[in-house]
Amino acid sequence: DKAGFDHYMAKEIAEQPGVVGAAVNSYLPAGGDLVELPGGNIDFTKIERMTMVACGTAFYACLTAKYWFEKLARIPVEVDVASEFRYREPPIPAQTAALFVSQSGETADTLAALRYCAGKADKILSVTNVAESSIARESDQTYPIFAGVEIGVASTKAFTCQLTVLLSLALKAARDRGTMSEQELTDAAAAMRSVPGLLNVALEQTDVIKAHARKLSEARDILFLGRGLMYPLAHEGALKLKEISYIHAEGYASGELKHGPIALIDKKVPVVILAPSDDLYDKSISNMQEVMARSGKVLLISDRKGLDHAGDVWGQIAMPECHPLVSPIIYSIPAQLLAYHTAVAKGTDVDQPRNLAKSVTVE
Ligand code: M6R
Repeated sequence: DKAGFDHYMAKEIAEQPGVVGAAVNSYLPAGGDLVELPGGNIDFTKIERMTMVACGTAFYACLTAKYWFEKLARIPVEVDVASEFRYREPPIPAQTAALFVSQSGETADTLAALRYCAGKADKILSVTNVAESSIARESDQTYPIFAGVEIGVASTKAFTCQLTVLLSLALKAARDRGTMSEQELTDAAAAMRSVPGLLNVALEQTDVIKAHARKLSEARDILFLGRGLMYPLAHEGALKLKEISYIHAEGYASGELKHGPIALIDKKVPVVILAPSDDLYDKSISNMQEVMARSGKVLLISDRKGLDHAGDVWGQIAMPECHPLVSPIIYSIPAQLLAYHTAVAKGTDVDQPRNLAKSVTVE
């Protein structure tokens, strides 16, 4: 039941304030800043490193989590796509927690990577949307994301719920390890509780995003740039767009621009820049100016302050101001809606894009 929406994907994008809210309430239930883990406790003082493995959108959730765990809990994190990890047969040092992220819990490569780690890693953890799935069952501990059934092949609400759970785990790790002050933990918990409301504010930009998507639908190639927590989201935005609109898109770390991709830029190539006004903003804006100097069309996604400071660009999408830690969850909305409305403008089959399956259970 699409509940009045044209596509499941649109319905699932709109559901995010509710389902992310459910995840926040489950992981941060008390109203204070204590994280409770519905999947059972982990003592992060016993963990020296983490290896995170997944495919596709779940991989980009892991890449985001790396920034959180390393910055907040000072745990070194390696992230890999499951199909590379499993055949590389990497060494797993003592005191490693291996974490597998999968919406379906049945992705063949991710499951094989989990089985490779069983008996080698100290802990096998997973973050899935299906409690009875193979990945959930074969983990020592599994963390539910509370997204509800996701039907659209392009993952949307599962991604933001995965991010919510991974940030909760990183905060739990930081508390265990004493790497954040009480004040920082309180602020972070408050930031997480503000997310559902901010997602609603972000969704109010739908008409603006739709107008930009119409312009994007005429492009052949599109670049997505981001720094820090916006870097994995640049990849996710590009994946979403190519998956359903069939427009070629690439995500890059903004700082990598001058190491190659800048050669692609001309007046035909729109460049989506994800740049909240945080401590990396100035760097992102200088990358934006490099793009504009080569006649690239910049679509800047930032908060009011960031947009006002940036001056005249080809397009702007305003996001609410938010705590920097939760920005990837909030900025997922414009990334998803741009892909969705571009695909709608192109008339593609949004919920069932060609050549793709919802769950990839074969290699
Ligand atoms: O079920 P999983 O999370 O393990 O699936 C992983 C990928 O196949 C999946 O995220 C895929 O990339 C999506 N179609 C992205 O929208």
